[in-house]
Amino acid sequence: MTANEGVVRGQNAPLRKGRVIAIDGPAASGKSSTAQWVAQQLGFRHVDSGALYRALTAVRLRKPDDGTTWTDADVLGEGNRIRLVPHGMSFVPLVDGKRVDAELRGSDVTRFVSRVASMPEVRNWVNAQVRLTALDHDVVVDGRDIGTVVFPDADLKIFLVADSWERARRRLIQRLHRSPTDDEIADETERIVHRDSKDATQTVQAKDAVLIDTTRLTQEEQVERIVALARAVTQRPKGTSDVDQE
Ligand code: CDP
Repeated sequence: MTANEGVVRGQNAPLRKGRVIAIDGPAASGKSSTAQWVAQQLGFRHVDSGALYRALTAVRLRKPDDGTTWTDADVLGEGNRIRLVPHGMSFVPLVDGKRVDAELRGSDVTRFVSRVASMPEVRNWVNAQVRLTALDHDVVVDGRDIGTVVFPDADLKIFLVADSWERARRRLIQRLHRSPTDDEIADETERIVHRDSKDATQTVQAKDAVLIDTTRLTQEEQVERIVALARAVTQRPKGTSDVDQE
């Protein structure tokens, strides 16, 4: 079977029926907001793989220690407290049955998450959860290695990049709801570049990914480009795919 027949096999993946748009890229390159918007326009569901790494980090941080001795087993010991569930047009992680979005985006989690994400067993666990979402749903998945490791057979792969100053500026506007000062942007740029270096091993552009530099694009423009590319690959003539549409 091939991807064009609608039932495809990813690396170590169970059979999936859903179509997959993979959006990868470095920190604060706009992956999540873009992926969410693209998913809405296509009628797909959005999956933010980073939120699962953040959820694992958040539950581990609730235990009192300084994080220096964490191991894969230790972090995954808390894994059964996290569930990735459909909610509206997304899949969202619940911790002990609750949404904890503010905690997941907090600075403590952001500081520790790259360490957790560098653990091989943790990555296998997250990848397995993410693959399950595409068993029966069309999904737009954002992360670092979605097009290379999680869904190497994705229907479309996008790699989003932007200048680090611009990424810092956007992240601060999102967080502060106002225009940041140059000093604030400079500090945030330093943090983002530092996280990029810690995430470098897993942030890989697939050979068949479309590279989009968003530094000078509006969010509308980048969404439009991706939606157009996605429509070209997902709107196959009827009868050429056995994927069930929702
Ligand atoms: O802040 P940003 O939106 O860039 O990051 P995120 O998508 O929330 O991901 C948080 C962290 O999870 C990243 O810094 C990576 O360490 C890790 N991650 C990963 O290793 N692989 C993924 N597919 C997604 C996230």
